Amino acid sequence: MQTVKTIKALRATIRQWRQAGQSIAFVPTMGNLHDGHIKLVETARHQADKVVVSIFVNPTQFGPNEDFASYPRTESQDQDKLIACGADLLFLPTVEEMYPQPLQTQVSVKNLSILHCGASRPGHFDGVAVVVCKLLNMVQPDLLLLGEKDFQQLAVIRRMVTDLNIPVEIQGVPTVRETDGLAMSSRNGYLSESERQVAPLLYRSLLTVRDAILKGPDDYRTIIERQAEVLQRAGFMLDYFQVCRSVDLLPATASDQNLVVLIAAKLGKTRLIDNLYFSRQ
Ligand code: PAJ
Repeated sequence: MQTVKTIKALRATIRQWRQAGQSIAFVPTMGNLHDGHIKLVETARHQADKVVVSIFVNPTQFGPNEDFASYPRTESQDQDKLIACGADLLFLPTVEEMYPQPLQTQVSVKNLSILHCGASRPGHFDGVAVVVCKLLNMVQPDLLLLGEKDFQQLAVIRRMVTDLNIPVEIQGVPTVRETDGLAMSSRNGYLSESERQVAPLLYRSLLTVRDAILKGPDDYRTIIERQAEVLQRAGFMLDYFQVCRSVDLLPATASDQNLVVLIAAKLGKTRLIDNLYFSRQ
């Protein structure tokens, strides 16, 4: 696996592959790689001749009181994992390489970005949109792979790619979980031992909500309230917990078929997110 730190070197390698007629899949990450990230790379390998991975802890998507400075940076372990799973090229830019001067341009997917995570993390999805847009312009892949774990992020990027006619196909990859159901996340490392024991309850609540919806006849609000209470009693501070339409992430009505239950909650200092999508027949 080749590692490059500059856009120029990235483009030079990709140009050679393109000249040889090879297809390219791209997996953007912020590093501290776990099996969820690796699943994206493995899925990418089956879809394209070459797999490019980026590791960049993107400052523009962190709020002033968030964990940008303390976000886990584990470059050499990440490199070993990427070699083991067969990535071809790692792009590892500095902040100066990505943002040589303050941006004058905004990329903002308006409605989707102010819901849910966007409401509690103002500006977060604008930061995600702009960095993914820049990375897509640098790599120009055929295929972009993103995790369904970040369901709203996936929706924002899908919409940006459609609105801006960016010539890339997007593939969402199902969430990889620990054996007890906790969605893998770089932030799980912040959990204390006792919080880690409680954390899988988040996913169990999603399953309970889904089962209750499918069974009926309670309305969504009653079902959510019941589970919210269970979570609060276990020590979670809920940020949002809502049954939404998977198409636009707005609150679902009784006639909607394709649903996603979205949740974000704090356990101690750690903010966890998860989701579950399903269809009502
Ligand atoms: P990061 O949190 O490092 O995640 C990189 C990719 O891995 C995202 O597409 C995310 O949805 C996916 N991912 C994370 N945990 C996963 C899991 N348990 N199962 C499956 N996929 C998982 O998301 C970001 O970085 C950034 O916002 C980024 C898109 C790189 C822009 O900076």
